[in-house]
Amino acid sequence: MAVPTIEIASGVHIPQIGLGLWKVKDETQFAEGFQSAIDAGYRHFDTAQIYGNETMLGSAWKASGLPREELFITTKIWLKNYGQRHLQKSLEASLKNLQTEYVDLLLLHFPVTVLRRKAWKILEELVQGDTVKAIGVSNYTVRHLEEMKKYATITPAVNQVELHVFLQQPELVEYCRQEGIKIEAYSPLAHGKVMDDPTITEIAEKHGKSYARIMLRWCIEQDAVVLAKSITPSRIIENLQLFDFAFDDEDKAALQTLDRDLRTCWSPVHVP
Ligand SMILES: NC(=O)c1ccc[n+]([C@@H]2O[C@H](COP(=O)([O-])OP(=O)(O)OC[C@H]3O[C@@H](n4cnc5c(N)ncnc54)[C@H](OP(=O)(O)O)[C@@H]3O)[C@@H](O)[C@H]2O)c1
Repeated sequence: MAVPTIEIASGVHIPQIGLGLWKVKDETQFAEGFQSAIDAGYRHFDTAQIYGNETMLGSAWKASGLPREELFITTKIWLKNYGQRHLQKSLEASLKNLQTEYVDLLLLHFPVTVLRRKAWKILEELVQGDTVKAIGVSNYTVRHLEEMKKYATITPAVNQVELHVFLQQPELVEYCRQEGIKIEAYSPLAHGKVMDDPTITEIAEKHGKSYARIMLRWCIEQDAVVLAKSITPSRIIENLQLFDFAFDDEDKAALQTLDRDLRTCWSPVHVP
């Protein structure tokens, strides 16, 4: 199945669904998951320096024989690499691990106090060259993004944040929409922590779709790029099937009531 793409920077088109790779550490599982994803139609893969699997992604891609331009690869600069020399060296290492000459999207993984400003300026330099196609941030709140207006000359192409029906972040979503920053929804299944909510179950039954697809479709309806993680072939396929149904007003209203500020990963809210 072909996944719709969205232009996030001049000439850079991101598939709206990507495969999350956090915690996928076993090489065999990685290779099988990657192949299932490719067979299903995924072309977008979300890794990070800290995930420890860039090398596996590079090997899996090479083994697939797919031309590089068919893939969309995101990696993220880990916090300890934010200094000038470290950042560039760490990107070189990431490219080597990934066996590629460029990443499609490079993110600052977290709004590290003080260091984030300088790190962003380095990303702005990097995106002028050939090794990075687009740059963005992750885990930035409205406050962190507003602060960027004081020092950034390039608006981040994306802000990758935790987003799901239990953490709807309407202010952040609206802010990013207005500023032309694409939201990428990470942990769109709330890390699998709430898979028995009665409202979602009811909507799933009504549409004849799975519980997970209701959660993921909600992210699509926020216009977000969706990054679910799975190593299970049947789920990898299922998580791509989000475009053959839509919510009616009743579904939307019911899902809106589920927002409960549930964070399943780290929180940037109190980062100065
Ligand atoms: N930027 C950041 O700071 C940050 C933080 C967290 C995550 N992320 C990104 O977002 C991606 C996804 O987030 P996540 O890994 O936290 O969690 P998630 O995608 O919300 O949930 C993953 C969990 O849901 C299960 N699952 C997947 N599809 C399912 C389905 N159709 N039905 C039932 N269960 C299903 C998975 O199990 P199986 O794998 O066993 O199938 C796994 O246990 C990460 O891999 C990473 O790329 C980024």
